[in-house]
Amino acid sequence: MIVPDSEIGNYIFSKGKKYSYFGGNDYLGLASHPEVKEAVIRAVQKYGVNFSASRCTTGTFDIHLELEKQLSDFKGKQDTVVFASGYQGNGILLEILKGSYSTVLTDQYAHASILGGIPRDVKIMTYNHCDTDHLEYLLAQNRINTPLIITDGVFALTGEIAPLDRIYPVVKKYNGTLVADDAHSTGVLGKNGRGTQEHFNLPGDEIYQTETMSKALGGYGGFISGSKKLTELIRKRSATYQASTALPPPVVAAGMASLKIIMEDPGLRIRLLEKTGKMREEIAGLGFRTSGYGTPIIPVMFSSMERAKNLSLFLSENRIIVPYITYPSAQGLHMIRITVNASHTDDQIAEVIGILKKWIEKKGT
Ligand SMILES: Cc1ncc(COP(=O)(O)O)c(C=O)c1O
Repeated sequence: MIVPDSEIGNYIFSKGKKYSYFGGNDYLGLASHPEVKEAVIRAVQKYGVNFSASRCTTGTFDIHLELEKQLSDFKGKQDTVVFASGYQGNGILLEILKGSYSTVLTDQYAHASILGGIPRDVKIMTYNHCDTDHLEYLLAQNRINTPLIITDGVFALTGEIAPLDRIYPVVKKYNGTLVADDAHSTGVLGKNGRGTQEHFNLPGDEIYQTETMSKALGGYGGFISGSKKLTELIRKRSATYQASTALPPPVVAAGMASLKIIMEDPGLRIRLLEKTGKMREEIAGLGFRTSGYGTPIIPVMFSSMERAKNLSLFLSENRIIVPYITYPSAQGLHMIRITVNASHTDDQIAEVIGILKKWIEKKGT
């Protein structure tokens, strides 16, 4: 395993060796952006490294309110609540909405944070992956009224965009609630980078989104934006929100600096998706099996883990970092996961394609 001893960016370094980096989720290249780093340094100088208190006691500082205001502007929503992680967001939302839904239905391949966030005493059903007909069948067959349907907006491993345009009418028909976990969509999809709801042009006040600053926003921490009523409920009712330490100064400062860049330069997102689109076409053209069209995630799938592992190793021997996926939630997929960021150069992408061609010559697809 290559353990980096540098910041992340187009390249990473390990023990003096330079590697082209196509891993992680820093889609817009903001995690090590000079303006973000400077903002973080200034925040640490002013506030130190931790506020060391819950938001409900003495842990709410001016910069939390500023960040929440900026996130609300970015999302075009009334208000926002920030908390420790995107992982927590699903649990927080499902906890405070409890009582308004009868049953939770999730995609078969929902992220671990969705499954972990469903309250223990709530009935759960899973529908086949991205299969709206199956979702509707389950609702009709079981005579479910007021369900809550929760899905990844973009699936972390396969990069597929959930068919919210088809799920939404089904949810409406059964008086349900729709939640999209937009961890991998925020900052990337939609005209203003607001995620899957904007991507599909669905009414923003009828779909809940759980989001994170830890991927395209390059920083850390989760958030939920919505009406004042929703954010007040979170502040008043969520034990997770109330009983954990407020986001620390460097994290808050990073979020604000990244948001400023994202809102001032929509071209970042456009360049990212153009680059990824081209790279994915080339990879598919080589005969590899892939998915995730329209997102910066390019999986390359195999029928055995051994092949995925070998390709990841072959790439690293050629100074390119692309992980193979071993998570328990990997859906029985054997894959490497290539992620593109907005500042990857054409030469870097061409180099990956060249190495993949060499691999095919040796081993086939
Ligand atoms: C779909 C999805 N939801 C939530 C998370 C968790 O986000 P965070 O890393 O901010 O806790 C992830 C990240 O791994 C994810 O892929």
